[in-house]
Amino acid sequence: EKGGYDSFMEKEINDQPQAVGDTLLGRSDVDGRLTLDELRVSPEELRNVNKIMVLACGTSAYAGQVAKYAIEHWCRLPVEVELSHEFRYRDPIVDSNTLVVAISQSGETMDTLMAVRYAKEQGAKILAICNTNGSTIPREADAVLYTHAGPEIAVASTKAFLAQITAAYLLGLYLAQIRGNKFQGEIKDILADLAKVPGKIQQVLDNSGQIRELAQLMKDTGSVLFLGRHVGFPVAMEGALKLKELAYIHAEGFAAGELKHGPIALIEEGQPVFVVVPSPRGRDSLHAKVVSNIQEIRARGAKTIVIAEEGDDAVKAYAEHIFYVPETPTLLAPLLTTVPLQIFACELATAKGFDVDQPRNLAKSVTVE
Ligand code: F6R
Repeated sequence: EKGGYDSFMEKEINDQPQAVGDTLLGRSDVDGRLTLDELRVSPEELRNVNKIMVLACGTSAYAGQVAKYAIEHWCRLPVEVELSHEFRYRDPIVDSNTLVVAISQSGETMDTLMAVRYAKEQGAKILAICNTNGSTIPREADAVLYTHAGPEIAVASTKAFLAQITAAYLLGLYLAQIRGNKFQGEIKDILADLAKVPGKIQQVLDNSGQIRELAQLMKDTGSVLFLGRHVGFPVAMEGALKLKELAYIHAEGFAAGELKHGPIALIEEGQPVFVVVPSPRGRDSLHAKVVSNIQEIRARGAKTIVIAEEGDDAVKAYAEHIFYVPETPTLLAPLLTTVPLQIFACELATAKGFDVDQPRNLAKSVTVE
């Protein structure tokens, strides 16, 4: 049932082209018009939405943070992302024009379920992005968009994360479509780019030998930092989480721009730092800013491990190790850049002799608050 792999986690990492492909499947017609029939909420109701509040925990919350960049850009709607367990205990501002998007692989996470119930009481509409058919959160929601990643057995989430980003992007494009924020042609172009993602994930998987070797070499490392900017920021957080969970190594993710506001003090000779570099083809100066962050940490002795887009030669000079992912529009990059970080954590934990499917102290679905 592990499909020839040593662990479910490895299998699930390798299932990701299909997880993303299946989540896209059957959700648009030949003209690129999205048809989210299963959604159970009317276009009229969605047109009245003036704010989106994403509620989730852990990896699912990082998927929400990635989606925030895309949905705000495409729909010009404010998107807040909040950890479910924090949301309920402040005095959150939600009403009948708020669309709450609850993201949960299991659909049973108690913190998220309680947050959903609370938001519902305040009159918010609830849309669940979920990987488990008929689970509690989608049953209590007004609307549901299933991720079609297939069952995720390993405790640490991998393929569900990429499927959640994909589903949240479909939702964003659907909202843009019915609210008239984007021309149909642009939506069609983005869908065409998304359709190419599964093949590109496969390329990343096929070229993972180098990252595996590095993981083996680094198995005695005591601490690893992860930096990213824009959509690369939640990717960095996710990379750090995977390493903590699986390899029990102290790991932290930071927004690259935040370095000089404190975390750079951590950099000393030999400190490994992963940097998720944005595409050099992006319109703004993000790429240059991240390259200068790499120079800063490198000058202080960091061992820089860079995830960059194919053809990005500018970063080479500052990278001790560099892993390339195929070209893709900036907003879609997390679907590629996350993969080497998952492989790194899985490989390193395996090299340490840990059970990557059942990390200590963790449960697959957290049904207590
Ligand atoms: C991390 C991980 C957890 C879950 C979190 C939410 O690898 O698996 O952080 O993402 O417990 O679970 P769901 O998505 O089932 O609500």
